[in-house]
Amino acid sequence: MSEGRFPNGFLWGTASAAHQVEGDNRNCDWWEFEQEAGRIAHGDRSGIACDHYHRYHEDFAMLRELNQNAHRLSIEWSRIEPAEGEFDSRQVRHYRDVIADLREQGMTPMVTLHHFTSPLWFVRKGGWAAPDSSRAFLRFVNHAVDQLGDLVELWCTIIEPGIYAGQGWLTGEFPPGRRGDLRGVYQVTSNMHRAHELAYAAIKRRSPDAQVGLSHHKFLMLPASNHRRDRMAAATAQAFLDRWPVAPGSWKRIVEASSDFVGIAHYWAQLCAFDPRLPRQQFIRRTNPSGLPVTDMGWSSDPKWMRTVLDELRLLGKPIYVTENGLASNDDTWRERYIVDVLNEVRLAIDDGVDVRGYFHWTNMDNFEWARGYGARFGLIAVDRKTLERTVKPSAGVYARIAAANSLPT
Ligand code: BGC
Repeated sequence: MSEGRFPNGFLWGTASAAHQVEGDNRNCDWWEFEQEAGRIAHGDRSGIACDHYHRYHEDFAMLRELNQNAHRLSIEWSRIEPAEGEFDSRQVRHYRDVIADLREQGMTPMVTLHHFTSPLWFVRKGGWAAPDSSRAFLRFVNHAVDQLGDLVELWCTIIEPGIYAGQGWLTGEFPPGRRGDLRGVYQVTSNMHRAHELAYAAIKRRSPDAQVGLSHHKFLMLPASNHRRDRMAAATAQAFLDRWPVAPGSWKRIVEASSDFVGIAHYWAQLCAFDPRLPRQQFIRRTNPSGLPVTDMGWSSDPKWMRTVLDELRLLGKPIYVTENGLASNDDTWRERYIVDVLNEVRLAIDDGVDVRGYFHWTNMDNFEWARGYGARFGLIAVDRKTLERTVKPSAGVYARIAAANSLPT
C-alpha cells in the first residue's frame, strides 16, 4: 500500500446515538432521568436535541457532501417497542426511511441496537439488572432485524456495556443513578453479555451475510511508573475494564464466539499507581498524564494511544472498526490536528497488520452529551441551540479531504 493510503473500501464516517440527536425521545429512561434536578450539567435536558428525527435527510446530505461513505446510528428501542410486546409500525417505517435514505445518499449504515437508552416499560421491570432482560431485548432485536434487515449489513448490538454499567451503577451519572453498586455492575454486564450473544445468533440466523459485533470502550490504563506495583495496578484496572466480569474466559474468547468484527471506542488514557490508602478504589490511584492537553470532558488526549489500542487487537484476528473517537473542545484547530494525527496512528496500526476496516468519528454534530448536557461539543458540525442551524466546522473539511483521497495529506 502506498504511503499514507488506506485500504480500498475503507469506511469513513461519523457515529451518533438516537437519544443524543433525534429530539423528543420521551418514552425512555434517559428522558425521565433528565427531568430530575441536578442530574445534567447546567440543568440541560435533551429536549428537541438536534431535531434529527425530522432533519435526517438534510443531515445525511451534509455528511455526503463531506465525502463520508458510512454512518453509524442507533435505532431507538423505546420508539419501536413503546409498550412490552407492542411494536409501532409507524416508527419502524421511520427507521426504514432513515436507513434507506442513508443508503440512497451513498453511505453504508452501521446500525446500533442499544446505545444507552431503554424503554420505560423495560426499566420498570428492573431494566438491565433483571434476569430476563436479555430475553426482552431479543424480542426487540428479532423484530428490528425482520423489519430492517434487508437494509443493513453491519449491526452493532450493544454500545459499551462497561461504560453503561459503570455510569449507571457505580458513578450514578447515568440512569438509574446508582452509586457504588458493584453487584449491579456485575448483573448488568452479564445480562448484556448474554443479550449480545442472543442477538448475534438471532441476526445471523436471519441475515447470515450480515456482519455483527459490539462496541467496546477502550479506556487505556497505563502504569504511572516502571515499578512492578504500578504495572500491576494498571494491568488490574485494564483487566477489569476489558473483561465481561462474568466471562469464563477472557474478552478474546467471547469475541471469537460471537462477533464478526470488533468495534472500538477510544478517547483517553490514565496513569495508574498502586496506593495502599485507597482500598475502596482497589488500591489504584488514577491520574491524567501530565503535559498532555485535556478536553472539556476532563479527559487527557493523545492521538498516539490509538495505535497501542489497535495493535493489541491484532491477535484477535478479527476485522476492526473504530466505532468512536474524537474530542470535546471548542478549539476546532485542535480537532483538525487531532484528526490528522489519530488517523496517522490508525494507518500505522494497519501497517502493523491490524485489519482496520473503517473509522467513525464521534460525532457528526454537537449534540446532547448525556450528563454533560450541551456544554461538551464533539461535533464536526456546530448546531445553534436556538435556531438548530448547522454550521460545518473547519475540522469537518480536514476529515472530508482525507476521506475523499482515502489517504492522509502528504
Ligand atoms: C458514547 C457516546 C458519548 C461519547 C462521549 C461514548 O462512550 O458512546 O454516546 O457521547 O462517549 O462521551
